[in-house]
Amino acid sequence: MTAPPLPDRFDLYEASVQSPPDMARLLRAVHGHSPTRLGEDFAGTADLTRHWVQSIPGASAVAIDLDGEALARAESIDGLQTIVGDVTLHHGHDPVDVLHAGNFSIGYLHARSDLVAYLRAAHERLNPGGVFVCDTYGGESAYVLGSVEKQIPLPHGRHCVYTWEQREADPMTGMVTDVLHFRVFDADECVLDLPDAFVYRWRLWSLPELRDAMLEAGFGGVEVYAQLPDAEDADGNVYAEPITDPDWLGDSFIVCVAARRGR
Ligand SMILES: C[S@@+](CC[C@H](N)C(=O)[O-])C[C@H]1O[C@@H](n2cnc3c(N)ncnc32)[C@H](O)[C@@H]1O
Repeated sequence: MTAPPLPDRFDLYEASVQSPPDMARLLRAVHGHSPTRLGEDFAGTADLTRHWVQSIPGASAVAIDLDGEALARAESIDGLQTIVGDVTLHHGHDPVDVLHAGNFSIGYLHARSDLVAYLRAAHERLNPGGVFVCDTYGGESAYVLGSVEKQIPLPHGRHCVYTWEQREADPMTGMVTDVLHFRVFDADECVLDLPDAFVYRWRLWSLPELRDAMLEAGFGGVEVYAQLPDAEDADGNVYAEPITDPDWLGDSFIVCVAARRGR
């Protein structure tokens, strides 16, 4: 019997890094008024936007990424427009209710002037009452070098060892190099080894830096949220309360930062 085909690095990224159902629930809760139109910048394989249009009645989405190979996974899906291009350049599309830049991608903007210019344009791409949401990490381990390993189950009885490595980190400039590695095992045999599958060179923006830039870019308010929504009522409505107590963040944290456009 022939073995099933091996996953590629994008399959492994989606299996290891992303949880579109959780993120979609959080984005809807943070918006708070049943948003239907999503924009995903730095979308990669657009896993989130694919889930959004396929799970929310009447939903539509636009996904933008430089990498046409990654974005090709989201082609020809009803309600989903894909744009291969640079998010910092103007891309005409209908305004969105929620605009998301996930998995620390906001760090691709290295200079504050570029960050503010991008956020200003993001503000204009939102419908009134819309939210821009990105994530970042911080705390005492933010500039520590090292690796974290996780075991991820895969189809066909395989599993993946996913390693997240912080290879370089400079607290003087805020620049970090983060690297993802994957090894796929069939039982105990390693059948695929993808070291340095993704290498990211990012500026690690702090919460106050993001807040200041967002307010300067014209947003009406900025809130910080945990990565998962807080609670669900009997009708399945999900709530997310902003974090207001710095003690909640603890020593090391990953959070979402939401900037709201006024109505
Ligand atoms: C860390 S991945 C994020 C994928 C996905 N959004 C997620 O949450 O997992 C970053 C993506 O940003 C894309 N990218 C980097 N700079 C970009 C730019 N200026 N414009 C559009 N895409 C960009 C890369 O091609 C890559 O696919």
